[in-house]
Amino acid sequence: MKNAVIIINGPNLNMLGEREPDVYGSETLADIEQTCLACAKSLGLKLDFRQSNSEGEIVEWVQESSKLFTAIIINAGAYTHTSIAIHDALKGSGLPIFEVHLSNIFQREDFRHVSYIANVAKGVICGFGSQGYEFALNATAKYL
Ligand code: DQA
Repeated sequence: MKNAVIIINGPNLNMLGEREPDVYGSETLADIEQTCLACAKSLGLKLDFRQSNSEGEIVEWVQESSKLFTAIIINAGAYTHTSIAIHDALKGSGLPIFEVHLSNIFQREDFRHVSYIANVAKGVICGFGSQGYEFALNATAKYL
């Protein structure tokens, strides 16, 4: 499907709003989804917005994405720093990948400085809170 984008959110992002609001802000994932849907519409993109706490489910969504979407925006949460399986799936998809994090992972603990996604991504947006998703949608629209 032309100009169809999937945004994949990883573990614990369903807890936004309650989870460490000083780090991740007070918006819920549903709030961010609404903003992203409006942003995608204005950019002429079709958007599927999802969240999973399961690494295997995320791998399956990525595997299916090459048939259904033209780009992947992903905030893989903590799997960013651990998951070779998600890295491999993203690489295998052949799709352009845009990595997003709400927080500035480079200002935080050392274990967050490593991303298994960054080296298969077109670019990484981090530290701008929920606005990062809109930046990623803009970058995706421009790229496509
Ligand atoms: C995060 C950063 C990760 O280190 C963390 O595990 C998350 C959220 C972010 O959006 O800032 O769950 O991806």
